[in-house]
Amino acid sequence: MQSLKAAILGMGMGVPQKVLTNFDLEKIVDTSDEWITERTGIKERRILEDGENITEYAIKAAKEALTSAKVSPEELGLIICATVTPQYIIPSMAVMVQDGIGAKNAGAFDLSATCSGFIYGLALAESFIKSKPETKVLVIGAEALSRKTNWQDRTICVLLGDGAGAAVVGKSTEPEKSGIMDFTLGADGSYWELLTLRGGGSCYPPFDERLPKDEYYIKMKGREVFKVATRMMEKLAVEILERNGFGPKDIDLLVPHQANLRIIEYLRERLGLPKEKVFVNINKYGNTSAASIPLALYEAEKEGKLKKGDLVLLVAFGGGFTYGSMLLRW
Ligand code: UT7
Repeated sequence: MQSLKAAILGMGMGVPQKVLTNFDLEKIVDTSDEWITERTGIKERRILEDGENITEYAIKAAKEALTSAKVSPEELGLIICATVTPQYIIPSMAVMVQDGIGAKNAGAFDLSATCSGFIYGLALAESFIKSKPETKVLVIGAEALSRKTNWQDRTICVLLGDGAGAAVVGKSTEPEKSGIMDFTLGADGSYWELLTLRGGGSCYPPFDERLPKDEYYIKMKGREVFKVATRMMEKLAVEILERNGFGPKDIDLLVPHQANLRIIEYLRERLGLPKEKVFVNINKYGNTSAASIPLALYEAEKEGKLKKGDLVLLVAFGGGFTYGSMLLRW
């Protein structure tokens, strides 16, 4: 008897048209294309225009994922939207997507786990499918980070971008060949002060004068985050591979969270992987937090770098800290 596995059945993406290049940023803050390229690998990012909302791109991504998976909106039992920048606090972005795509049989909620949010969402979807095998789950990673960016702060504004990616998850029709095999979810809240957006929460509602104005934007102690991120990404990758009886050479494609090309390169070298086995698109989108992994998975497939049956490793790390890894057969 074949075991029950959940698999990604289809993917979609949606990013704003507006491109902000490093040269554009040179005109806004004291930075340079050279610094940004060397230190991060980013060349440009997508930014919402005034009047646009990230939900419309989440809906675009969701519709494309449903079409690709050949799943109707009515078949969805759950919609999980990983985001730290929802359009509103109430209602959640997930219920706006639910309405936007006409998923009348689905529960819907937002998930806040920063850059690891999409892996968290896939892990929940997998468990849901195992308890209700005939249903389907829509997992979205969508961020409007530009709306929480301090454009005077060069240590953060050069890094972030907007975008949305979506996956439809359902029962694998070929569990021996495709589906989610294993995952790790983790967190270490003792590091919370290294990456924050404190203003606007229930402690400091907008615009509480006790809090400095720059706390209403994302702040990061980049160097400290970098050190933990490199160590943790490697640990996550090695542990999940070992636990499943694989070594790095077995991986067909590593799809890491796109926070910094140097972090990705460090991981690639530590695992001894050739460049073609690690997917990178940070150059085009910057760090899009929860949207980064679905955008990467989507583009990897479109570029022919993901084939049926491939062994894929996802690894993410972000503010909180939160972290996660997932091993799957495409
Ligand atoms: O997605 C979730 C998790 N996030 C991450 O994993 C990000 C982790 N951190 C990083 O990616 C890197 O730490 C950054 C890209 C944020 C920064 O790179 P870095 O090599 O760690 O630079 P740094 O913060 O050590 O700064 C080096 C220098 C400083 O100048 P001094 O003190 O050496 O004179 C900064 O003031 O670079 C300066 N600097 C800049 N210069 C030009 C900082 N930001 C900029 C900038 N343009 N945008």
